[in-house]
Amino acid sequence: MKGLPKSKKIIIANWKMLPITLAEAKKTFKVIKSKKVNNKVIPVICPSYLHLAELSKTYLGNKIKFGVQDIFWSDKKQHTGEISIAQVKNHKVEYVLVGHSERREVGETNEMVAKKMKHTIDSGLTPVLCVGEAERDRRGDYLKFLKQELVESLAKVSKKQADRIIVAYEPIWAVGKGKKPLGTYEIHQMTIFVKKILVSIYGRKIGMEIPVIYGGSVDADNSKEILEDGEVRGLLVGRASLNPHTFTDILKSVS
Ligand code: PGA
Repeated sequence: MKGLPKSKKIIIANWKMLPITLAEAKKTFKVIKSKKVNNKVIPVICPSYLHLAELSKTYLGNKIKFGVQDIFWSDKKQHTGEISIAQVKNHKVEYVLVGHSERREVGETNEMVAKKMKHTIDSGLTPVLCVGEAERDRRGDYLKFLKQELVESLAKVSKKQADRIIVAYEPIWAVGKGKKPLGTYEIHQMTIFVKKILVSIYGRKIGMEIPVIYGGSVDADNSKEILEDGEVRGLLVGRASLNPHTFTDILKSVS
């Protein structure tokens, strides 16, 4: 499976540790699946592992895809507390968030991210590599940080496999409660910067084609503008994705 067909945009819901109960998760999902989805958008729900099996079981359509928020880097080695790709594949999972800033915050390194990227691709799923700086400085050191994060996280992804990945640019300071998204002009600039790095790794033809999406305080009020003026191929949505009405409004911003 290829990362993202050229004609489509991807909108990923990252539910993190919410909702608390399965009943609430089912209710939220029920509203989302009851709405008509434009065929130019691929909606992906990344629920908690606890709710994944049940939600995927109740869904018989194929418009909405499932993803997970993290994965272990090996199916062979038994590792306490981890989840394998073999397990999630049984529950219709096609996408894996890799290296989300909240995982990096608890110690995930670029080296670990690189192993997860490779294992996800080798297993036939699509990894969404999350990158982003914690803060900005005037000297532009954050650009060096971002470059290193991309280069090291992609160290095990070959040129041949590069068309299978999606990159999510999420400036950490824009993620979470009380934060604001980056301006659309800056989002566009950052996608160009990310593409430049991807081109330096994989060459112009392949690097330019890798889809870059944006995450960090996306809501129904700003999603359309970010998609259009930010010129991104999709969105990674946290808080706003837990309200099914808001999430479906965000899906509608793809035209
Ligand atoms: P947010 O989270 O939309 O709540 O800022 C985004 C994310 O964590 O991926």
